[in-house]
Amino acid sequence: MSLEWKDGYKIGHDEIDAQHQQLFKLVNTVLAAKDKATLTACAMALFKYTREHFAHEEALMQRLDYPAMAAHKAQHESLISRLNEVSARIANGTLDHQVLEVFLTDWLLNHIANSDIKLATYIQATVE
Ligand SMILES: [Fe+2]
Repeated sequence: MSLEWKDGYKIGHDEIDAQHQQLFKLVNTVLAAKDKATLTACAMALFKYTREHFAHEEALMQRLDYPAMAAHKAQHESLISRLNEVSARIANGTLDHQVLEVFLTDWLLNHIANSDIKLATYIQATVE
């Protein structure tokens, strides 16, 4: 399977939207990986980019004094710990591909649609 980026996923903040689009691409490379070496490399690239993306969002929230920052940051931390678990499972060969698909899909679609959109709405109301 692969996750298709749709313009409907845009939250209306150009920088974050571009980063989310890049996350979709990296997630798809992970989902398409056929062997352990490729999977490891693609997962590492995804995790690195995810950390940078979350740090970017968190810096933005901090700068704008976003009221729901703590909850949003907690979601990022929980996603990072799930990514760490995926990483460990890739390493020891216990990764279930279907569980991975569900996790990555749920993360991209739900976190973006529910949490990032609220942040973007706040940014628009504050900055513009
Ligand atoms: Fe986020």
